[in-house]
Amino acid sequence: MPCTISWPSRRGFEEEPGPPLCLVSPAVEQSRSVRNTTTAADALNTILADMLALYFKTKNFHWHMAGPHFRDYHLLLDEQATEIFSVVDDIAERLRKTGNTTLRSIGDFARRQTIKDNDAEFVPADDMLAELREDNFRAGSAFREAKVLVEEARDNGSHG
Ligand SMILES: [Fe+2]
Repeated sequence: MPCTISWPSRRGFEEEPGPPLCLVSPAVEQSRSVRNTTTAADALNTILADMLALYFKTKNFHWHMAGPHFRDYHLLLDEQATEIFSVVDDIAERLRKTGNTTLRSIGDFARRQTIKDNDAEFVPADDMLAELREDNFRAGSAFREAKVLVEEARDNGSHG
């Protein structure tokens, strides 16, 4: 499936010309139609669950990284996990401020998450990075979808 949203060129990012850099992964675009979020609060709670799932998966891969690029990837994933976790509290408190409830437990977040856990005993480094790339595309897509819903709900604070 070709990209429906992409940069016009990769020029400036790489020396060699290549295929368009997709802003939304084809796999994520394909799954959009099955996403079940009916309200802005639902969307934000799903995003919250996904940010926690993505945080935990990123930390999992940080802890279990192995291979010749161990140090670089280990540090990279720790930085990314910190950035991901930094949005969690803001999303939850925004939900409360708008009169909604938010996640209450590990079970609650597990029921809502769309980003899948990876419980494999060993994951090669390249596969870790590829999986996180897809998950981050999914998260970005969910934020863009939620932005439309909060705008429709006239929630200017969440729309930002
Ligand atoms: Fe660490």
